[in-house]
Amino acid sequence: MDKDPHQANRTFWNASTEWWKEREDQRGLWMRAHQEPRLVLSEAEMRYVADIQDVEVCVLGSGDNEVAFALAGLGGRVTSVDISERRLAVAADRARILDLSVRFVQADVTDLSVLADDSFGLVYTGGHVSVWVADIQQYYAEAGRILAPGGLFVANEYHPMRRMWEDADSYEPRYSYLDRGPHRSSSDELPTFEYHWTVADHVQATIDGGCRIVEVVEYGEQIKDEPWLKKMPAHLLIVGRKEGSA
Ligand SMILES: C[S@@+](CC[C@H](N)C(=O)[O-])C[C@H]1O[C@@H](n2cnc3c(N)ncnc32)[C@H](O)[C@@H]1O
Repeated sequence: MDKDPHQANRTFWNASTEWWKEREDQRGLWMRAHQEPRLVLSEAEMRYVADIQDVEVCVLGSGDNEVAFALAGLGGRVTSVDISERRLAVAADRARILDLSVRFVQADVTDLSVLADDSFGLVYTGGHVSVWVADIQQYYAEAGRILAPGGLFVANEYHPMRRMWEDADSYEPRYSYLDRGPHRSSSDELPTFEYHWTVADHVQATIDGGCRIVEVVEYGEQIKDEPWLKKMPAHLLIVGRKEGSA
């Protein structure tokens, strides 16, 4: 029988930590992001995150922590949240090497009860996080809850339309745009569960999480991807501001 999907995903991410660590070391961005934030943050994102000196910042589903380190380099007081304790341990070692002050918290993005209401000026998430999360409404509601009134929510995700071609080998889409899953991987040893949230799901969850939409941007054409993904935006960026005055 399948395990709880989030716990299965956590086991998968813990098990693949070493594999990712090697690739991230080869890429080397974690060593540079705090001094050169534009290596990991686009111009569209920088418009919202450049001015965060001494702001409490939370990164949800922090993974490689390249963005968390960039935001720390920009002066934010960063809390980095991930479900995988092994990925967090790698990031904590790297933060020590770089002498970066980042707080690491192991938690599921749908249950951030370890973090207080209204405590962050910026909540950032994205880079393939929502695909692992079974309930986007609860995820963005938690992001909204921990944001201080007037604070910014920035979600930068792989563009949902592209998920129609996940694991496809031709121009024929593999999934219907509205087929949200769960999509279980074929591995019996390390099963994973993925969810294909639509653009509307992201926007609606942001609004229902208590944020007014400030900007929605679709941008980027990832040339490295398969030919059938060309001419499609690579990113969906949603920026919201929590209702209420700062
Ligand atoms: C593809 S990475 C995205 C993060 C970052 N952009 C990166 O590339 O490393 C996905 C990350 O989300 C984390 N994750 C998956 N499900 C989660 C959940 N329910 N709560 C918190 N983190 C989760 C995984 O452990 C992993 O580190």
